[in-house]
Amino acid sequence: MALDVVTTGAAIPLVAFDELADGAGRRIRAGGLDIALFRIGADVYAIDDSCPHRGACLSVGRVENGRVRCPAHGLWFDLRGETSGGPATLPVHRYQVEVVDGVVMLRAGASGVASPISLSGGT
Ligand code: FES
Repeated sequence: MALDVVTTGAAIPLVAFDELADGAGRRIRAGGLDIALFRIGADVYAIDDSCPHRGACLSVGRVENGRVRCPAHGLWFDLRGETSGGPATLPVHRYQVEVVDGVVMLRAGASGVASPISLSGGT
């Protein structure tokens, strides 16, 4: 159960930072979680790899301006957890990660919620 994993208090190693392509997502399965990791420059963001609309994989979505677009129906999610306008509906779980000695680590018990910022799909 995903919730059990993020409340155990342990940091979970996910992947080497260098294995993440800049400006793209990657699906990582760890500790019962399907996590979509996104590297934007020196930063890494982690959200559930399941769109709250109908479950499409967000890790294969287009990344643009700190957001990811669901490949199925175009819902945008703000990877930084900021809201830049639009209705805050269908939130996706966001996880806190950090890079330690070149490894992306999932911080246990630090999940949050990122709000979708557009239902239109944009460009
Ligand atoms: S499944 Fe993601 S917007 Fe529909």
